[in-house]
Amino acid sequence: MPNLRLPGLADVHTHLRVPGGEQKEDFSSGTAAALAGGITTLLAMPNTTPPLTRPGTLRETCQKAQRAIFCDVGLFAGASPQEIELLPQLSGPAVALKIYLNETFGPLRVEDLPALLACFQLWPRRKIIAMHAEGPNVAVGVGLAAAYRRPVHFCHISRRAEIELIAAAKRRGLPVTCEVTPHHLFLSEADAARLGPLADMRPRLAAAADVEALWRHLDTTVDCIATDHAPHTLAEKQSANPPPGVPGLETSLPLLLTAAAEKRLSLERLIELMATHPRRIFKLPPQPDTWVEVDPRASYTLSNEGLQTKCGWSPFSGMRVTGRVQRVVLRGTEVYADGKVLAQPGSGQMIPRALN
Ligand code: NCD
Ligand code: ZN
Repeated sequence: MPNLRLPGLADVHTHLRVPGGEQKEDFSSGTAAALAGGITTLLAMPNTTPPLTRPGTLRETCQKAQRAIFCDVGLFAGASPQEIELLPQLSGPAVALKIYLNETFGPLRVEDLPALLACFQLWPRRKIIAMHAEGPNVAVGVGLAAAYRRPVHFCHISRRAEIELIAAAKRRGLPVTCEVTPHHLFLSEADAARLGPLADMRPRLAAAADVEALWRHLDTTVDCIATDHAPHTLAEKQSANPPPGVPGLETSLPLLLTAAAEKRLSLERLIELMATHPRRIFKLPPQPDTWVEVDPRASYTLSNEGLQTKCGWSPFSGMRVTGRVQRVVLRGTEVYADGKVLAQPGSGQMIPRALN
């Protein structure tokens, strides 16, 4: 069987750690990892140090990114209650707004209702709002989508009740969308017990019944697969106070191709979940002459060796998969082949373009 040609994938949930966490990942290593995973567009999260909540920080980060990136990148603006009035100024350079309702890595959080309403009033309608909402907070997000009649995208949905609530909201015609992560599809609480801090993330790994519910909704309610690539160094993960989060850019496509090989989802659905839907929901620009060549029959064991991510480890190390990324072409140029990044630093484009 010849190689399979997929469209360039889009990951709408990546942490690239610039500014302030460059020992974990930077724009160069993170976008190299994206290409190795067949991802040609990624959206980077704002929980950096400092966070992307001020126009100056956001613009400087855009400029740093533009010099380094190997694939296309958009930055999320972060909502911070102390700086809510800056949101309109952030909306130019940012691709979307991220609101954290639940506790996770970093201090960004919007917990009071006035600040939450201000986000919906001040953030322009043409750009989507993405939310980290767990448990009952999913209902808060659904309520805001209904009250303000505007799209809300739910990050890393992981529990049965959450996906069922989103299904119910969609049946009522509410403008809600959601992503699930590969780790919530392929790992569960049992793996958390085995892997310790290397499988600790927010939301935490769930029970088998939750994992089954995500798979059941994969053909219907789930809109996107997003990696939530959240690299931390092994030293940080093995410390007394390990930060939550796991890398995922390089393992996401092999895992989903394995599921396709096992007929757990169709290749058509994989393309919708990993390319078509994320591009449509976040209004990402098209990438002409762009594709990913995979060998759908290559069978191998995922390993920490040869990873492009600076953190150098994966919670999936040791797992057998079927499907390997061979080659990536971005806008007509070969940018990745046989384990090597061939793109020039800065050849990726920022989304939106031409800010300064
Ligand atoms: C993320 C991180 O490390 O930035 N960690 C995680 O466990 N997912 C934060 C986040 O996405 O919530
Ligand atoms: Zn995240």
